[in-house]
Amino acid sequence: MRKITILNGPNLNMLGIREPGVYGNESLAAIELLVKNRAEELGVSVSFFQSNHEGAMIDRIHNAYGNEDGIIINPGAWTHYSYAIRDALSAVSLPVIEVHLSNIHKREAFRHVSVVAPVAVGQIAGFGSLGYVLALEAIVKQVLQSENEA
Ligand code: DQA
Repeated sequence: MRKITILNGPNLNMLGIREPGVYGNESLAAIELLVKNRAEELGVSVSFFQSNHEGAMIDRIHNAYGNEDGIIINPGAWTHYSYAIRDALSAVSLPVIEVHLSNIHKREAFRHVSVVAPVAVGQIAGFGSLGYVLALEAIVKQVLQSENEA
């Protein structure tokens, strides 16, 4: 069974409490359940990890190497400046999909830049929790496609 990991960066443990007008009312646990249910339908296994610590996230990304088939990540604010997260994603050579609950492109200028986007297959932003489900569908397609090409 193909394995996909869903990673969430800083402050995303506060979903449901944090700026609900921007990020919605759902908790991260509720979003993870949504993804888990869709994963069961798609026949893939999913694991989840959230951290507010950059080094812990880098270690988790490294751990995906050889253990998982794809990464879905909402890097939170790291999106906009963390070359270390970007390099970690690039180092493990797995398909990556970047997710944002909000549409980062219509918010403050500093959110318009993603240093992670160049190492991702694609970015999904602005669809709230649905974005994680869309990302799962996209990464499963991507993983199966790269297997056929191999
Ligand atoms: C976010 C957008 C980022 O700019 C912000 O720092 C977050 C959440 C989103 O999901 O919309 O923490 O990644």
